[in-house]
Amino acid sequence: MIKVGIAGATGYAGAEIVKLIAGHPAATLTAVTSRSYKGRSMGEIFPAMKNIVEIECEDMDIDNLCKRIDCIFLALPHKISMGYAPLFLENNVKVIDLSADFRFKNASAYEAAYQKHSAEKLLKKSVYGLSEIYRNEIKNTDLLGNPGCYPTSFLLPVLPLVKEKLIKTKNIISDSKSGVSGAGRSLSLATHFCEANESFKPYKVGNHRHQPEMEEILSIHAGKNIKITFVPHLLPLNRGMLSTIYASVCENVTSERIRQIYEQYYGRKKSFVRILPDGFFPDISNVRNSNFCDIGFNLDNDSGRLIIASAIDNLLKGAAGQAVQNMNIMFGLDERSGLINIQGAL
Ligand SMILES: NC(=O)c1ccc[n+]([C@@H]2O[C@H](COP(=O)([O-])OP(=O)(O)OC[C@H]3O[C@@H](n4cnc5c(N)ncnc54)[C@H](OP(=O)(O)O)[C@@H]3O)[C@@H](O)[C@H]2O)c1
Repeated sequence: MIKVGIAGATGYAGAEIVKLIAGHPAATLTAVTSRSYKGRSMGEIFPAMKNIVEIECEDMDIDNLCKRIDCIFLALPHKISMGYAPLFLENNVKVIDLSADFRFKNASAYEAAYQKHSAEKLLKKSVYGLSEIYRNEIKNTDLLGNPGCYPTSFLLPVLPLVKEKLIKTKNIISDSKSGVSGAGRSLSLATHFCEANESFKPYKVGNHRHQPEMEEILSIHAGKNIKITFVPHLLPLNRGMLSTIYASVCENVTSERIRQIYEQYYGRKKSFVRILPDGFFPDISNVRNSNFCDIGFNLDNDSGRLIIASAIDNLLKGAAGQAVQNMNIMFGLDERSGLINIQGAL
């Protein structure tokens, strides 16, 4: 059994990892940390977990934690994880970081969007945890930067098409919408019920920090600098994310060719990426509470315009689910261990 620790277990993403590890057939929940709930059990903090997960929250005492765990999930805010990750690595504990701190290869791109990096040398070694694309690298790493939720919903459908040169790299647009849990559990005016409920609006247009993350990964695979247009919106839902993506196809690219490439990348029987049949588009309610990413597309042959829609649960495939999928790969387990349910069916 893999002994697992979760730092930031009382946040939205951390609590989802707690639920997944509590039901995982090959992992044991050994430690959970929180500063504000120290000494209180998960069942007390989240009544839905009562009598199921009663482990108590503790401090981030690195020496003590490292003696007891094989793997730590850092479900902490950006800028905090980079201070802790090197300490766990020194003690041979594998690190899966959910923040942006280890997602970038280029420190200056990270620093332009966030702050000065204090563990810059580790960026070379960290692997970007987009499971379906980086599976081979993930197998051999002990430091993983789990992707952001918007980047997951955008890169899964777009990356194969860029890598295979099926779409033009200029003027790619991602019109993306996220449920409110994407902003985390701490209080802010924009996420108050009366501000978010029964409304719908774009936010951080032109300056959302997921944009440089998406651009860096696309650029690495294209071998040239790519800039995209990204417009995030706040949906009055607790969880769920849908990106509608617009791109122009290269000459002679057909709908059949696009489907063939998706099949090549995601056609494995046990894939978490489901390509929908022609004429079907994803629905957040079909992926909610699951680790799936559903993708549908339509190519307008007259204009050469490709429209793709991609839906995920921001807290699962966009955070905790993909993080556990990555743990499974890092420890040589079946990628779907602990991640299969059909709660999204109704
Ligand atoms: N929410 C999403 O949909 C989503 C998706 C993808 C990635 N992520 C990433 O996952 C990470 C966690 O996000 P979240 O939405 O779960 O945030 P959150 O709900 O605000 O939770 C943050 C957690 O970190 C702990 N924490 C806060 N400041 C800390 C500090 N200085 N030192 C140690 N612990 C600290 C908090 O507990 P205490 O204050 O009690 O210590 C809490 O448990 C973030 O980096 C986020 O970008 C989130």
